[in-house]
Amino acid sequence: MNELFSVQGKIVLVSGGSRGIGRAIAEAFHLEGARVVVSARNELSLKGTGLDYQVCDVADSGQIAACVDAVARKYGRINALFNVAGINFRFAAEIFPESRLDEILAVNVRGNYLMASRCGKVMVKQGRGKIVNIASLHTHESLPGVSVYGTSKGAIGSMTRALAVEWAAHNVQVNAIAPGFIRTDLNAALWERPEMRAWVEQRTPARRLGAPHDLVGTAIFLASAASDFLTGQVIYVDGGFTAGSPWPLEIPR
Ligand code: NAI
Repeated sequence: MNELFSVQGKIVLVSGGSRGIGRAIAEAFHLEGARVVVSARNELSLKGTGLDYQVCDVADSGQIAACVDAVARKYGRINALFNVAGINFRFAAEIFPESRLDEILAVNVRGNYLMASRCGKVMVKQGRGKIVNIASLHTHESLPGVSVYGTSKGAIGSMTRALAVEWAAHNVQVNAIAPGFIRTDLNAALWERPEMRAWVEQRTPARRLGAPHDLVGTAIFLASAASDFLTGQVIYVDGGFTAGSPWPLEIPR
């Protein structure tokens, strides 16, 4: 691969990488020659995958510190963090259970912030690094029933800009990938419903749901030297969902 886009030999930590989007990113970086550490709440069976792992519940600041410090100690540096851990619960805003609100904010906002902060400490010291947060199309627009998730993903957008500005002079770039509708365990039940699939296919210019591998190219770009002057941006990888909608008008061509 061209040097510019190479992630060969880079130490990459994927937080929340046991499945779904995080796992796809972890496997892709491994294939491209990076040393990948997946962190997850429970011990993972990663035998034969070539991936390393650390236990880390991002709702626990002590576990975050221990995880990041262990990776930095073992490999001597951390080149990139993918902040992927995230959860969602759907309720109407007028009855949103406080306990669920706390859970979402503890993982999606507090956990991701503390993870970025701890990795940032290592990266500022080493004078380089890449942090890639996972935002959402909810960072840009809303749908009913997900007001707390939307709040948390809005915060990811602000956090991405805030950390980018704070660390730019230290050669640490902070960006976010905002996936559109990606079929994973997080939402599998939703996309089994034909009316939901029909809605997304009709509403998305690309006319399909995304898959985790659709995010991999942007992930590699954001961890490579090709993005060294790109920071504080939220990149929507959503088949055009946030750009606009198709319509049934016949277009002469
Ligand atoms: P998923 O449910 O398959 O993956 C979420 C990951 O986060 C899992 O590995 C889970 O174990 C981990 N996690 C949850 N709580 C954790 C905690 N306390 N500590 C450590 N890890 C924890 O879902 P998916 O779809 O792969 O989601 C990954 C990220 O992408 C999330 O931040 C999600 O909000 C975001 N996203 C997903 C979209 C989709 O359509 N699937 C769209 C937009 C954003």
